[in-house]
Amino acid sequence: MKPRVLALAAVGALVLGIGVLAFLTRAQLTGVERGRRLAEAEGCFGCHGPEGIRGTANPGRDEKTVPSYEGTLMMYAKNAAEVREWIRDGGTRARHGDPDWKAERMHGALRMPAFGRRLTSSQIDDLVAYVMAVSGEVAPDDSLALHGRDRAEELGCVGCHGPGGRLARPNPGSLKGYVPPWDGADFPELVSSEAEFREWVEDGVGRRFRDNPAAQFFLRRAPLHMPSYRKHLEPGDLEALWAYVGWLRAQPVDQPH
Ligand code: HEC
Ligand code: HEC
Repeated sequence: MKPRVLALAAVGALVLGIGVLAFLTRAQLTGVERGRRLAEAEGCFGCHGPEGIRGTANPGRDEKTVPSYEGTLMMYAKNAAEVREWIRDGGTRARHGDPDWKAERMHGALRMPAFGRRLTSSQIDDLVAYVMAVSGEVAPDDSLALHGRDRAEELGCVGCHGPGGRLARPNPGSLKGYVPPWDGADFPELVSSEAEFREWVEDGVGRRFRDNPAAQFFLRRAPLHMPSYRKHLEPGDLEALWAYVGWLRAQPVDQPH
């Protein structure tokens, strides 16, 4: 390479390096992830099980267990506003007015506490966002995007990226310290186009980052790495996953309150 080209390349690498550094050092947790961390800190998982999806035995109640946030949520709460009532008041307004429920509640060994006095309104927003994300209740209408969500589950993406690709699990040593969620503010910095999304999923890293020594340094340090799925994808998977991510990113960020 000619010296001028070399110098230009060095400047280019430096600019990208600084861009990458800026991305890697700026932690931007989503409401869903803040909610997960708060649920852990507030003891919710003691009754609702790990991550709220395996309710503890609750002798005395017909249901036999504390409900999970996944699957049966809608038997307890029709929407995000009712989830909020459960968390704030220990039950919905309708249930609090129902003597049968009150009696039934007293039969159980475990009772849903009211968190309204312990937590601020925005903390409760985060908990609602987390419960709604885990419930999977808000799903794409579009069949391609819906298929993408199912494939993310079947391929195991949700292990690291969480239900619906929406968690930011700790990944110590990476500068931000978490696995970037698909609906987070970091996403566009890592994935600027569908082509780059394809590189991440097929090769386990975007080419832009693979070829950059500064990025490599940080990507290598962390215990969790994005795997390469090239050998495991079925025809149509990338299009479906991309459609799902597009749907997810178009959703309103915060739950209504
Ligand atoms: C002491 C045990 C206990 C703790 C701690 C607890 N819950 Fe509950 N929760 C319950 C029980 C029992 C129910 C079922 C209520 C009923 O039918 O009486 C419930 C119901 C709920 C529901 C509605 C039903 C569903 O599908 O989950 C939500 C949402 C909920 N809890 C969220 C939370 C959150 C968030 C926290 C922590 C901030 C929390 N709970 C802490 C026991 C608990
Ligand atoms: C073993 C954990 C793990 C699994 C499983 C996993 N990923 Fe990742 N993924 C990561 C990590 C960690 C990163 C961040 C880059 C890095 O540190 O290598 C990442 C980054 C990404 C990115 C870059 C942008 C962003 O904000 O997330 C995309 C897109 C992505 N993964 C998609 C997927 C898809 C699709 C699947 C399933 C086919 C999947 N991942 C499975 C760990 C994982």
